Amino acid sequence: MSSCFYCDRIQSADAAYTGRAAQYDLGSEAPRCAWHWRFICDCCGAAGHYMTRFFCPRAGQLFCGAAGSVEYRAAPFWDRHEAWFLRCPACGEEHASLDRAEFEGAHPWQMAPDARTERRWLSPEPYLQRYPPANVPTVRMETLSDADIDANWSRNADIWNATYDSQGDRTRKYFSDPVVFAFLGDVAGQDVLDAGCGAGYLARILAQRGARVVGVENARRFYELATAREASDALGIAYYHASISNMPFLADASFDAVVANFVLMDVLDYTTAVAEIARVLRPGGRFVFVITHTSTHGHWVAPAPDSPRREDRSGWLEDRYFVRDAGYSQWGALHPVLGFNRPFRDYIAACRAAGLALRDIEEPELSAQGRRELPPWDVREASRLAYNWVVRCEKAPATG
Ligand SMILES: C[S@@+](CC[C@H](N)C(=O)[O-])C[C@H]1O[C@@H](n2cnc3c(N)ncnc32)[C@H](O)[C@@H]1O
Ligand SMILES: [Zn+2]
Ligand SMILES: [Zn+2]
Ligand SMILES: [Zn+2]
Repeated sequence: MSSCFYCDRIQSADAAYTGRAAQYDLGSEAPRCAWHWRFICDCCGAAGHYMTRFFCPRAGQLFCGAAGSVEYRAAPFWDRHEAWFLRCPACGEEHASLDRAEFEGAHPWQMAPDARTERRWLSPEPYLQRYPPANVPTVRMETLSDADIDANWSRNADIWNATYDSQGDRTRKYFSDPVVFAFLGDVAGQDVLDAGCGAGYLARILAQRGARVVGVENARRFYELATAREASDALGIAYYHASISNMPFLADASFDAVVANFVLMDVLDYTTAVAEIARVLRPGGRFVFVITHTSTHGHWVAPAPDSPRREDRSGWLEDRYFVRDAGYSQWGALHPVLGFNRPFRDYIAACRAAGLALRDIEEPELSAQGRRELPPWDVREASRLAYNWVVRCEKAPATG
């Protein structure tokens, strides 16, 4: 007889806790006892993971998070650091999620023994439904053009840009930008190309640091956002709506540095783009690029797939690492994003072929500022995986 996945975890933090046998989801990675199974909300009738349910002793009702407003905050107990708290729609008080409620002795089955006997609110389903993963829509690379990539990013540009401030988003501000600035070195008085500049937050930072900046962006809508910002608050940045795979308007050997910030994994013809970047660099010029980490492209997997806890995710599912293809990924509020799956080595090979020598590689960790400013659960999550690569290459210096 297997023991309950969650009882085992609690026991590991409190040897006095009496664990129970598992009765639900038997044979899975996380078989569970009744206390740690799924409960039905009195408000909407939906069954959900016990940590997503809240008991109101005054109303004698069990609610899901959708019944009121929920806060996730620090609340150390057993092996946990945080819990959820529902502002109760019935009594106006705050009730903790059932995991924390059990610790406090405020679980409905602790407060009302007859409810425990009747197993009130317990969901009768014996197993979690594990549907086969949705078919990932694949796209035939041969049929794509930069115009398709433009259409896809233009559709997302305003939603994307809404998550930015003057320092970009969290990933840029707390992980990659500190490394990008270190790899670029001093840019004051230099010609710098922001290849695939989006709405231009980085172009603006570089201009504020004294660089003469050119931004090239393939998506019409991003280009419009960048030029509108330049029109209202000028920093002398020249923007072009074009593909970095074809930049005839930029002269050979006219830049001291090129940066491609989270761009190459979204570029269709990345080898030609890297060759164009090498062409416009001066001898000895530097090319710094950031891409999403090629080993963390997949999806999180968790033994209890219905758990709301991020720390219950056991690992990151990476698959098809060496497959080179195009496909859509879905994140946040964005429409599906069209991008490319390629092994990391392909980008390094493209640089080498274009005469750009590899000088440095970094996998940014959360910065000290991030450790201070982000919530504890984000700090812990940041320590689990590398999310980006940052690479510095150099064009051979002039000889003779
Ligand atoms: C993840 S976004 C990053 C944007 C910006 N660098 C940033 O960090 O905010 C990827 C960008 O690459 C651009 N892109 C894709 N293919 C491109 C190409 N061939 N030439 C120029 N930009 C391209 C997209 O339009 C999009 O703006
Ligand atoms: Zn249990
Ligand atoms: Zn509900
Ligand atoms: Zn209540």
